[in-house]
Amino acid sequence: MVLVKIAAAEQSPRVADQQGVVVIREYDEGRDKVAVEELERRCEVGGSRRGRPSLVTDLMGDPICRVRHFPSHIMLVAEYGEEKDIVGAVRGCVKNATRGSSLYAKLAYVLGLRVSPTHRRLGIGTKLVKRLEEWCKENGAEYAYMATDCTNEPSINLFTKICDYTKFRTPTMLVQPVHAHSKSIPSGVAIIQLPPELAESIYRQIFANSEFFPKDIDAILASNLNLGTFMAVPKKSLPKWDPRETFLPPSFAILSVWNTKEVFKLQVKGVSALTYACCVGSRVLDAWMPWLRLPSFPDVFRQFGVYFMYGLHMEGKQGVRLMRSLCTFAYNMARDDGGCGAVVAEVGQRDPVREAIPHWRKFSLAEDLWCIKKLADVKQGGGESETERHEPSNWLNSRSSSPVIFVDPRDF
Ligand SMILES: CC(C)(COP(=O)(O)OP(=O)(O)OC[C@H]1O[C@@H](n2cnc3c(N)ncnc32)[C@H](O)[C@@H]1OP(=O)(O)O)[C@@H](O)C(=O)NCCC(=O)NCCS
Repeated sequence: MVLVKIAAAEQSPRVADQQGVVVIREYDEGRDKVAVEELERRCEVGGSRRGRPSLVTDLMGDPICRVRHFPSHIMLVAEYGEEKDIVGAVRGCVKNATRGSSLYAKLAYVLGLRVSPTHRRLGIGTKLVKRLEEWCKENGAEYAYMATDCTNEPSINLFTKICDYTKFRTPTMLVQPVHAHSKSIPSGVAIIQLPPELAESIYRQIFANSEFFPKDIDAILASNLNLGTFMAVPKKSLPKWDPRETFLPPSFAILSVWNTKEVFKLQVKGVSALTYACCVGSRVLDAWMPWLRLPSFPDVFRQFGVYFMYGLHMEGKQGVRLMRSLCTFAYNMARDDGGCGAVVAEVGQRDPVREAIPHWRKFSLAEDLWCIKKLADVKQGGGESETERHEPSNWLNSRSSSPVIFVDPRDF
């Protein structure tokens, strides 16, 4: 068990002022589940910004669910005072992923940092991150990265000003709400579901140069949260393509669909009465006059799930059309699944697939900011790490070898 007691001497003056003692320790499901759920509720994303809508996440009774799917993961909690109240939490995991140019590095992903609104600015968030970084280093991580909304000033300050992270990449979230109607796919396009082994070999080929492509892609594709990998090709080229051969069709698009609905649910809270009425109105109108095929607004004021599209890639003259068809296919899957409110993809700023992914601008412009930090030059036990042996430069300073960022669906 990880136990860090911040003794009075090493407390920040602010913590000392509160006459409190903070203990950082590993999450214990039997003991901490209820308290962490309560902490999550108090920290609802966006909830601090008065008068603005907030997106609330329900972890469905499993506070560790967002890292559970990584073989190497941990969750830490901060206990405060004699009452040992749980006032903070952070999750992390370590995985092997590409850092571009076909090089793999051991990366730690830091996520789900929360400090109770009543205990902020006492240094607790910093202590949680630093303790987590120690665990990551012990588990061989060379770099740590985190993702946050680019408007989340407290989080950005904590990571960049206090914990030495560097602003690194800014992928964009593209969101398409799911409404009542299915959409049609062009008749000249064939959509094929790929067996996981074939999907894996194609992904290893096309994403070798990208950043953040996970080495254990096979585990992701085999997960029960993965709803499948799909390829769109022009019907005309189908007879000429043999999936058992290593070459790919001249024009194709590929993506996989991840069902986050089984892990967490989202809900929009705090919209104005007018916005709420307009959204409900669009649904009522749509139900009365379905032939108009209005893009009615889904009921996001009740809990909804999300399908996450990942591993998106297109090639050839018809790539854009094929990618659009695939996104429509994923949209129809989500529409047929009752509790799904949106289809989401996250792509790099310069990724060519960006122009082909249908999305609603109003929901999609928010940029994610990914920050990164070099944790160690050497692997545990001494010696150079695998990547450093072949590529001495620091990832933080090197130009990215590809505009493509592979967003691991488990990170979402
Ligand atoms: C972000 C969060 C975890 C910070 O926790 P915290 O315990 O208050 O952080 P610390 O006391 O360790 O603060 C460390 C530094 O972060 C920055 N910071 C923290 N809160 C800030 C705020 N409200 N405004 C600006 N900077 C802030 C400051 O640089 C601060 O150092 P300083 O106090 O010496 O100026 C907390 O605000 C929170 O839970 N927010 C909601 C959930 C969230 O956004 N999580 C981050 C997801 S990645």
